[in-house]
Amino acid sequence: MSTVLVIKAHPATEDVSNSLVIGDHFVETYRQAHPEDQIIGHDLYAEGVPEINSSNLDSWKKLTSGVTYQELSENEQILLSRQQQLQEQFIQADKYVFISPMYNLFLPNRLKMYLDLVIVSTKTWVEGAHGPEGTLHDKKAIHIQSSGGTYHHSDNAFMATLDMGDAYLKALLGQVGVKDYQGIYCEGNSHRDPDDMAANRETIAKEAEKVAKEF
Ligand SMILES: Cc1cc2nc3c(=O)[nH]c(=O)nc-3n(C[C@H](O)[C@H](O)[C@H](O)COP(=O)(O)O)c2cc1C
Repeated sequence: MSTVLVIKAHPATEDVSNSLVIGDHFVETYRQAHPEDQIIGHDLYAEGVPEINSSNLDSWKKLTSGVTYQELSENEQILLSRQQQLQEQFIQADKYVFISPMYNLFLPNRLKMYLDLVIVSTKTWVEGAHGPEGTLHDKKAIHIQSSGGTYHHSDNAFMATLDMGDAYLKALLGQVGVKDYQGIYCEGNSHRDPDDMAANRETIAKEAEKVAKEF
């Protein structure tokens, strides 16, 4: 049995979002194809993500200097236990599904905030003789992304280099050992009329369906 972690990072709802519709279709297809697997979902905009601020930087420092968890303030404990829960879930998962829109050629900020909480030194990577070494192995990831422009389905190879959010996610996961990474891109939405957008969404949902069965 595998555990699949589905991370939705979109402030919108399914009725107005291409990536969420495709993401839900991916998850439903996956569920039917792999009924024995456990699927854990997070909606980062509905749930919120703890921000890294001076107070949790302070509590991390206190812990490394010998202060015990019980000696931290109630607020510090709440923040730390939420972070630890998210980290443990991330480390335990076998497969990751990230669902997000492109914002300014990057990932939405809550996805970055989530990654800053779960990708951490000594847990997901360690300092090796030749640089960082990932501690996560035999895992795979899918990134379902929607964008106004066309980056990956473009004839112009330069366009793909502008998608820094997807490249970053792939590089970051690769650094912690998750090398099996695939993107599913629903693109060109700013230039499509509603019918064309719906047709394109349908095409990409079919692609997602195929990937979900084999994921
Ligand atoms: C704040 C913001 C920034 C955006 N930046 C980009 C961008 O850099 N490139 C792009 O192609 N589309 C950009 N878009 C458009 C969205 O990526 C596009 O509307 C996408 O289809 C939204 O995802 P959805 O279809 O799942 O709702 C931006 C939209 C917003 C709201």
